[in-house]
Amino acid sequence: MLKLPGLIDPHVHVREPGQIHKEDWDTATQSALAGGVTIILGMPNTKPPIFDSETLDIALDAAKQKARCDYGQFVGAGPDNAHLLPTISDRAAGLKMYLDSTFGELRLDDMSLWTPHFEKFPKHLPIVLHSESRTMAAGILFAAIYDRPVHIAHISLREEVLLIKAAKEKGIKVTCEVCPHHLFMTADSPLPEGEGLGVRVNGRKEVRPRLATQKDVDALWQNMDVIDCFATDHAPHTLAEKDSDNPPPGFPGLETLLPLLLTGVDDGRLTIDDIIQKSVINPRRIFNLPEQPETWVEVDENAVYEIKASEQFTRCGWTPFEGWKVKGKIRKVVLRGKTAFEDGKILVEPGYGKNVRDQ
Ligand code: NCD
Ligand code: ZN
Repeated sequence: MLKLPGLIDPHVHVREPGQIHKEDWDTATQSALAGGVTIILGMPNTKPPIFDSETLDIALDAAKQKARCDYGQFVGAGPDNAHLLPTISDRAAGLKMYLDSTFGELRLDDMSLWTPHFEKFPKHLPIVLHSESRTMAAGILFAAIYDRPVHIAHISLREEVLLIKAAKEKGIKVTCEVCPHHLFMTADSPLPEGEGLGVRVNGRKEVRPRLATQKDVDALWQNMDVIDCFATDHAPHTLAEKDSDNPPPGFPGLETLLPLLLTGVDDGRLTIDDIIQKSVINPRRIFNLPEQPETWVEVDENAVYEIKASEQFTRCGWTPFEGWKVKGKIRKVVLRGKTAFEDGKILVEPGYGKNVRDQ
């Protein structure tokens, strides 16, 4: 039996408020615990988006009632809220800026809208950027100009990891995360399809950033030392939505994160220390998160099994890793002294989770 600290996932789309048919604070945190994750940081592209004091209260109230693991909530950068965010930032996980197109309404195209956020948001909390390719380069330039930390969400490209490496060497305050699907899949990976797909795109493959090429995936693995965090970008949408004519982008990922990483360890591509650094120590430092006393995950390292959506707790009802054979099964999760998950069962009630900013 292998014992690990509780993992931190700094990138989760909880979907509450507004889209609880996809997920809510209860199911997202059950999914987290089943995946060995004891802190999730929720993204602000909900309905309504989390972008001021009132909407932050809506999300935090729901989390307080329903969350079964510990949590934080990001606020989103909009065109005219930069002046008010510093007044609520102590209740938030950090600031998320959407600079490239994705699911939801929050997006800032004009760079002059970025400036007040970089000037005003407290520097002890990172600004997390959804920024791909050249937009990411622009975001790193902003970090240099305003001399403040930025965290690049879900990097997927060779050009991205190489530029981040160069920026770090220059002392620019940039960190980054990578998602398991960008490490273990390419655009050519076979994914299950919905019925009656015909000539339409396979909506189950839609995710932002898109799955990349083998060359990109190889560069991420070769530059593992440049990558600060693993993050799932858990982005649940129902199968009916994924198989529709207008499929929203996003993959669920909380329950497959650790089994995939442990399989990477078994393959000799990762070490247990990589998992601890990138899923516990670095995210705790970057996002200023508290230690969780008496918190750990017990894993049967030798258990080989197939990933099955039917065994998951996420409400979305599917996984892009259906049928993948993995090695390493989570047997038990203890959170702040209480057994929260054991042998496939969630054992803590809604409301057990704590806001990481309350402690
Ligand atoms: C995310 C979602 O569904 O909220 N989708 C995705 O493909 N990653 C949005 C996002 O993280 O950009
Ligand atoms: Zn996301």
